[in-house]
Amino acid sequence: MKYKYIFLLILLQIQLLYAENGYRLWLRYDKINNNKTLSYYQNSIKKIFIETSTPTSKVLKEEMRNGITGLLHQSPIFTNDRLEADIIFSINTKAKNLSEEGFTLQSKKITKNRFKIIVNAKKDIGLLYAGFELLRMIQTAQKIDSLNTISNPSLSLRILNHWDNLNRHVERGYAGISIFNWHNLPAYIDQRYIDYARANASIGINGTVVTNVNANATILTHAYLLKTKALADAFRPYGIKVYLTAKFSAPIEIDHLKTADPLNPEVQKWWQNKAKEIYELIPDFGGFLVKANSEGQPGPQNYNRTHADGANMLADAVAPFKGIIIWRAFVYSNDTPEDRFKQAYNEFKPLDGSFRNNVLLQVKNGPIDFQPREPFHPLFGAMPNTPIMMELQLTQEYLGQATQLVFEAPMFKEILNADTYAKGANSTVASVIDGSLFNHKALNGCSSVANIGNDINWCGHPFAQANWYAFGRLAWNTNLSSEAIATEWTKQTFSTAPPIVASITKMMLNSYDAMVEYMTPLGLHHIMGNNNHYGPMPWGNTLARADWNPVYYHKADSMGIGFNRTVSGTNALDQYSKQVQKNWIDSNSCDEKYLLWFHHISWNHRMKSGRTLWNELCFKYNDGVEAVKKMQALWQHAQNGIDAERFHQVEQLLSIQLTEAEWWRDACLLYFQTFSKEPFPINYPKPKYSLAYYQSLQFPYAPGGGQ
Ligand code: GCU
Repeated sequence: MKYKYIFLLILLQIQLLYAENGYRLWLRYDKINNNKTLSYYQNSIKKIFIETSTPTSKVLKEEMRNGITGLLHQSPIFTNDRLEADIIFSINTKAKNLSEEGFTLQSKKITKNRFKIIVNAKKDIGLLYAGFELLRMIQTAQKIDSLNTISNPSLSLRILNHWDNLNRHVERGYAGISIFNWHNLPAYIDQRYIDYARANASIGINGTVVTNVNANATILTHAYLLKTKALADAFRPYGIKVYLTAKFSAPIEIDHLKTADPLNPEVQKWWQNKAKEIYELIPDFGGFLVKANSEGQPGPQNYNRTHADGANMLADAVAPFKGIIIWRAFVYSNDTPEDRFKQAYNEFKPLDGSFRNNVLLQVKNGPIDFQPREPFHPLFGAMPNTPIMMELQLTQEYLGQATQLVFEAPMFKEILNADTYAKGANSTVASVIDGSLFNHKALNGCSSVANIGNDINWCGHPFAQANWYAFGRLAWNTNLSSEAIATEWTKQTFSTAPPIVASITKMMLNSYDAMVEYMTPLGLHHIMGNNNHYGPMPWGNTLARADWNPVYYHKADSMGIGFNRTVSGTNALDQYSKQVQKNWIDSNSCDEKYLLWFHHISWNHRMKSGRTLWNELCFKYNDGVEAVKKMQALWQHAQNGIDAERFHQVEQLLSIQLTEAEWWRDACLLYFQTFSKEPFPINYPKPKYSLAYYQSLQFPYAPGGGQ
């Protein structure tokens, strides 16, 4: 009896040891289970030479040791003799065609069956990126005997923005509380920080803003700067710079100055001293990210100064230390009765050319606020003399939060590939943010609002990790396809078996369009629940500001639905170049994905499908729901090829997703029907509940809201 008990206990422990709880992310280094592939790698990788012995090289060595030992069940020997090594990591400061973080990988034949891999980089961080690339190739079972790759990042700044508060609440976070435990810092370095840095380095992320854009001045006090230093020290070997959010009123809040006016010499001095204090602790501190005069945050306009005055004052403070200022363009005024779509452009376009050369303007992908599908922001291409960064959102604030599987790479690609026509055809958003279009070679980049929390699997939904992964990979190489990213992530995260990869990637690649269809088809936007942004609430009209309310955005009435942004409406379209306007200006030829963004359309308008608008709306909503059922079916194919733990998690979440998709369809259509007065198409699924029922739903404790 006693032995049986012990045996069971051991079994349980083994199970726990092997339980796939998602903590390892895509860096799972389990033994390759195809014998032929395994022996190919085992024969090719025995000895490794690493030229440098910096902290970053030590990270590389450990990663190669863990990776190779796990994947090949064979410990690599680290040799000091470059001649006998199979992989040679060496620095070449003069390497042509290489940027500071780039690397080359070359295979050289030695004999018929033997080859060496030569890795070159200008700096040790390039070698680390190359090491991760090699491990990724092994994890995804690619040949390594004929490599001839040059890899340079497309963007120089590849940054995560954490909306994490000092009390560990994460604004719009759906994966637990913040991983940054400020209370225990600086003395306690959580293993999580190291694992976080490793994961970021593996996909080329090189910066992190560790505090919320709705900033707290306390982070700039000395005690908190010491904590920030501890994080910066932990992240440095992984090539990750730390940035902080700067609250504009910090001089008043911390040191009781009378003003925070950016033109006041005392205020300027305060920031200069603060910068000095920070750089003494963190010599490679990245700089400040600033949300000013937006949604209640203080800023230069409190003192009748411009955004440029504010940004430049901070830029001057960090310039002696090579710091930068990332100034957010997510600004809309409380007083202006102007279409919110237009406000950021109106505010910033006239300031083009008036920022210091260490300032970047950070612009959200679309003009409103991370909606399921937005046209690209009109500021892309409109400010040739200012480096423009793009801000994406990984955390799924408006994209089903942590209960829905939505792979965001197709959305990111849609925006990157959009043509601004700023300098004729092919002036893509990608070419704006990589600095090539307007020659901002030194300062360019992209950031993403993180979806990371202290949940065991980091991101809440097991598939949300793929969005973190996709951001890093795309920021490194904007040309990668969504399919390539989904495929490599799936192979690393779940399985390399072709049928499993095929089902999972298909599910991922369909998920973005599915979500847009069952939430906001045909260009609807901002019709989600108040405050927590959870679920549908197209009827919402009780919030203080008109432009926080859904009814402001869809403008449904007895005539039709949609926001007229043409010349007979708010004329927001005029903020785009003439060629872009052509795609959207005529309601008959407008790309229907964006139709209701720009037009108020009558209910019986003929769509390209031949259906009326009302019927098309019904059709699209239901199409989205049906797509979720297909995702469920595809997931069933994975059952026998992956671990039970994650299979069941995703199975349950997909079932929630289906319920939520039906809820969106039924609630939105029942509400819009009160205007269209049209019946549902024949054989259309009957809504489960009444409109009154959907309108009565409340979610006071939905996650992610508030401070
Ligand atoms: C959204 C989000 C806020 C956030 C804001 C921002 O409005 O709901 O929580 O603060 O974006 O980007 O600043």
